Order: sequence, then C-alpha cells, then structure tokens
Amino acid sequence: MRVLVTGGAGFIGSHTVLALAAAGHDPVIADNFSNSKPSVLPRIEELAGRPVTLHEVDLTDTAATDALFAAGGFDAVIHFAGFKAVGESVAKPALYYRNNIDSTLSVLDAMVKHGVSRFVFSSSATVYGEKAPVPYREDWEFLEATNPYGQTKVMIERILTDVAAVNEGWKVALLRYFNPVGAHASGRIGEDPNGIPNNLMPFVSQVAVGRRDRLTVFGDDYPTSDGTGERDYIHVVDLAAGHVAALDHLDAMATPARAFNLGTGTGTSVLQIVRAFEAASGRPIPYDVGPRRAGDLPTSYADATRAREELGWTAKLSIEDMCADSWRWQSNNPEGFPS
Ligand SMILES: NC(=O)c1ccc[n+]([C@@H]2O[C@H](COP(=O)([O-])OP(=O)(O)OC[C@H]3O[C@@H](n4cnc5c(N)ncnc54)[C@H](O)[C@@H]3O)[C@@H](O)[C@H]2O)c1
Repeated sequence: MRVLVTGGAGFIGSHTVLALAAAGHDPVIADNFSNSKPSVLPRIEELAGRPVTLHEVDLTDTAATDALFAAGGFDAVIHFAGFKAVGESVAKPALYYRNNIDSTLSVLDAMVKHGVSRFVFSSSATVYGEKAPVPYREDWEFLEATNPYGQTKVMIERILTDVAAVNEGWKVALLRYFNPVGAHASGRIGEDPNGIPNNLMPFVSQVAVGRRDRLTVFGDDYPTSDGTGERDYIHVVDLAAGHVAALDHLDAMATPARAFNLGTGTGTSVLQIVRAFEAASGRPIPYDVGPRRAGDLPTSYADATRAREELGWTAKLSIEDMCADSWRWQSNNPEGFPS
C-alpha cells in the first residue's frame, strides 16, 4: 500500500516508516518539522536502503493537505502528527486543540474527497483516565483524560469513530500506545525531544550522557514493588511493527473503528529503569526523590490480549533492549539529530 505517514519525521513515525518499507509498503511522509528535523530523512533512507518522499506541510492547512492528497494516490493514512507534551498542553490548551484536532479534520476531509478509507491513529493510554481499572482493556467505555493533550486523543477517537460509521467502507484502527521508548538498533534514529524531556527514558539517557546532572524521581511512596511509579514501556521498534500489523488487518476488521492497546502488559518501575539503564550504559544515574507529581498514577499497563488475538501482534523486545538501544542512539548522537 502507498501509505501517507503524517508526522513521519518524528520519533515513532520515523521508525514506522522503516517498518512499512521493510514490509513492502510505500511510505510517504508529511511533516512540518514543528518537533523534528529534516536531517532525519537521509538517515531513514540510509536504513531503508531506498529513497523516501517527504512533503513539508502543515496539516492544519486544509488547502495544502488537500493538494497533498490530490497528487498522492494514497491507499491509507497513519496519523502521527500532533503535539504531545502534557505540561505544555496545560499551559497552552488552545494550541493543542487547534493543532491536533484541526490537522486530523483536514486529513479526514481530504480522505473523504479523494476516496481514501483506511486510517490508523496514534492514540494513547492516557484516554483511560484515572478511573479505569489496571490492566487497561479496550472495552472500558468511559474515556476521559486529565489534561488537554489527552482530551485531544479522546475527542479524535470520537471524531474518527463517527466519521468511519457514516462513510462506506471506512476502517479505522485506534492504537492506544503505552510508553514508547528505545531506538532503532543501528543507533541512527531515535527520540530527540526539544528542551527538557517530559518522559523518563530520554531524561535518564541525557543524564547518562552528561547533558543533565541528575534525575528527579517523582514519589517513592506509591503502592508498587519499590514505591516508584510503574509504566508499561514498549520498544519503539515493536510499536512500529504494531502499526504494520494494524494496517494489514484493517480490511478484515468487523467494525468501522476499533481500539487496540499497544503495550507489553507488564509494568516496570522508575527505579528498575534506572538500574537497567545503568547496566546498559555502564554509567551511574544519580537521582533525588522528590514529591509526587500532580496527575501521575501509581501504575499503568495494558491488557494486550486484543492486539495479540486480532492483529497477531505482541511486543518482543525487553527492557534491556530498550535501554541498550536508547543508549546507543544517545551516546552516538548526544545532541540529537543535526540541526
Ligand atoms: N511518544 C509517546 O510517548 C506517545 C505516547 C502515546 C501517543 N503518542 C502519539 O504518537 C504520535 C507520535 O508521537 P511521537 O513521540 O513520535 O512525537 P513526535 O513529536 O516525535 O512526532 C510528531 C511529528 O508530528 C509533526 N507535526 C506536529 N504537528 C504537525 C502539523 N500540524 N503538521 C505536520 N506535522 C506536524 C512534528 O513535527 C513531529 O515530527 C503523536 O500523535 C503522539 O501524541 C506518543
């Protein structure tokens, strides 16, 4: 399939472009580099062993998005484009609603107009909110989120479900990611956050490489194995494979829209990650324990049964693989991608 990968220059998108190319699909990237750099493209092409087309376009621009589809000949869309920093979304909610919802709507309008009916969406475990029981199951109906970023995911899932219901032949996979980490095993592409990382693994890897002094662990009095928060970390290469599995499954889906958790089904604590990263890097990770962070849950992990049974997909890579691959990327590229 010729697949439009929106946000394909970003962390998860770039790894998914490689997985699509390896599976014989033809990925085309659309990105405005608001949170990525053009220098990722030659590295994607080097790893894919073939040229990959990239269109620099802001998908909130409906005319530009329509022109992209008019010339594209796409069979499917995987929609990664969006802003994702929870803290920033609290400070600038309108920016997040505008970018995430408008970009989705212009892509959907263009799909309807140009007859593209297969869609894979980057949703998040954040849609389970604070009340869903752990492990999270896709049949939990009361989706809510505790911040504007998460609300955009809840709203977009709703929009996609409604649009798929009324457009003949539409198939939409709502992929709820848990905590994507790691990097391509080559160390050539990986996560390159702007500013201070919000997430644990990039922060830990920046401490290991000397870009930051110490880690703050937000709370060690949770009801978990060692008191620190537990999350379901999933290697980005496994996550990328989950997109290919979802894409290949779309036509066989019994309902127009369906949600799938992409996680391992296991929680790993902050301190377990710190120890695994120290082992992978051979560097100490100094840390302080601070107070709990508002809105953080003690533990979060997937029930990964549906993806296994229906997509034939399971995560294969371990915490050790995630740390080793993150470290290879970080130590080979201490400042991320070249500007
Ligand atoms: N990384 C995570 O922890 C995580 C977890 C759950 C869900 N997700 C979702 O997965 C998707 C990809 O995440 P990521 O970690 O790869 O993020 P990322 O920021 O690395 O990638 C997103 C890409 O989208 C581009 N983009 C943003 N707005 C755009 C617009 N209006 N037009 C064109 N391009 C635009 C950015 O430049 C960037 O390259 C996002 O939708 C994110 O919300 C991420």
